[in-house]
Amino acid sequence: MSENLLLDSEIGREWWRSAVIYQIYPRSFADGDGDGMGDLKGITQRMGELQELGIDAIWFSPFFKSPQKDAGYDVSDYKDIDPLFGTLADFDVMLAKATSMGIRVIVDLVPNHSSDQHPLFQAALAAGKGSEEREMYMFREGTGIKGELPPNNWESVFGGPAWTQIEDGQWYLHIFDSSQPDFNWDNPKVIEEFESVLRFWLDRGVAGFRIDVAHGMAKEAGLPDVVENNSTMTGVSEELKDYQHPFWGQPGVHEINRRFRKVLDEYQDRAMCGEAWLSTIPKMAQWVRPGEYHQTFNFGYLACPWDKAELRKVVDESIKEFGGVGAPSTWVLSNHDTIRHATRMAYDEIPKQGDGIGPDYPQPDEALGQRLARAASAFMLGLPGGAYIYQGEELGLPEHTTLEGKYRQDPTYFRTKGERVGRDGCRVPIPWEADAPAMGFNTTGEAWLPQPNSYKIYARASQRGVAGSTLELYKRLIKVRKDHQMGHGSLEWADEYAGKNSLAYINNGVLVLANFTGSAISLPKGELLATTQHDLTIEEVLEHDQVAWIKL
Ligand code: NOJ
Repeated sequence: MSENLLLDSEIGREWWRSAVIYQIYPRSFADGDGDGMGDLKGITQRMGELQELGIDAIWFSPFFKSPQKDAGYDVSDYKDIDPLFGTLADFDVMLAKATSMGIRVIVDLVPNHSSDQHPLFQAALAAGKGSEEREMYMFREGTGIKGELPPNNWESVFGGPAWTQIEDGQWYLHIFDSSQPDFNWDNPKVIEEFESVLRFWLDRGVAGFRIDVAHGMAKEAGLPDVVENNSTMTGVSEELKDYQHPFWGQPGVHEINRRFRKVLDEYQDRAMCGEAWLSTIPKMAQWVRPGEYHQTFNFGYLACPWDKAELRKVVDESIKEFGGVGAPSTWVLSNHDTIRHATRMAYDEIPKQGDGIGPDYPQPDEALGQRLARAASAFMLGLPGGAYIYQGEELGLPEHTTLEGKYRQDPTYFRTKGERVGRDGCRVPIPWEADAPAMGFNTTGEAWLPQPNSYKIYARASQRGVAGSTLELYKRLIKVRKDHQMGHGSLEWADEYAGKNSLAYINNGVLVLANFTGSAISLPKGELLATTQHDLTIEEVLEHDQVAWIKL
């Protein structure tokens, strides 16, 4: 099989088509000032480690000014940095360092809602009923005899009603926490406000945006009741997949996508990726039609178990549907809203998105999770398109599944009175050095969420240079992927190399062979480029739950 390599200049403009993008959750990556909360200085200090990993870009979860009621997804000033994370000057230093290392920077835009402390919401409260200021958000009169009931039956993703009543009797909508009022995207002033936010960050030099709740901004006219309440970001259940939900995936959102895209197109080589949790891949693909987003997260892939038939199906469908509108597929296994895949994969039955795992739940088989997560990552990183990795997954980091209630900060935990423990377990500060204070997260030992002792064995310093470690595996996979331009390649299933329980595909001359269950399989002749099976040689056999990359 021959390789079809592109020139660097051909890749440049559309770098996002093949990029490996690393998600930093700023609270938990590295803490430069030792207060227990990660920050921009800490990130800048550790940037070299990301260059070593070989990533192309970083997506930062929000570090904007915010009361932190939803860990920064409640923004009170879109054009400034929260003092917890530093200053705009610290951002510029971080950006310059990343750029000097060939790493692009993507920031998180949160346009569905602001913080209730945002000056626009405060002005809306102060201005009163019927004012222009109220028109920036979703205020309505209530129902019931005296308006004492919410305007409709919508539920918050974090639990409880999606409406809160204020003193003058009106109610405001918040699909998330009551501290996160939804903007009124039918109001042209809201679009103008966000176009200015986009330009602010583009002028500062960012390579693009991840757009939060990209599927939630437009609401159905008249705000009708939801037929089946299902308060997660994934929208409706599989049985209702043809149902048009009144606030997820409304057609009106595409006009907003196009307005955002026009702004990005005024600049060179910028991209935006939508967070659009929709129940089918064909629906997700509508977000990346020409003139809309460049990419969207492939949550169908994230939700797919380590299963031969299901993986093949989701890969085929993704390539067909995203390719059908001229977009690359993305691939992702973990992020700050989901149970880390090194833990998730050890369960047969996975809690609903956003629910999390607490100390009272059945605990996972850690070794099984490690094995499956390494295999799943090696399978994913060989696929053509863009790949997203979440900080810590390159260490094999599992979820913190025994975090006590007293430490929990996710609004889901509070709004459901602990019934759903929420997402804190995947947001714990990552370990850098096994025996340093806070495992090297800082020098003081403070941490906004306590790290479990078990994280020590995953410390980056303990894995660096150690053959067979998950960190070295990721580095190797990313390097081979880049050397062979697999992100830009195309996938062909290669059943002639696969046994009954394995999958094989070829991408740009590299065979990716994944063995799922049962007996070991023999490897074809060729050069062994990367493998999850430590110390494997081409003469040996590939065991179950292992993946090998071979140059044919
Ligand atoms: C999606 C974000 O990823 C999540 O963390 C946040 O809670 C909600 N949107 C609300 O902004």
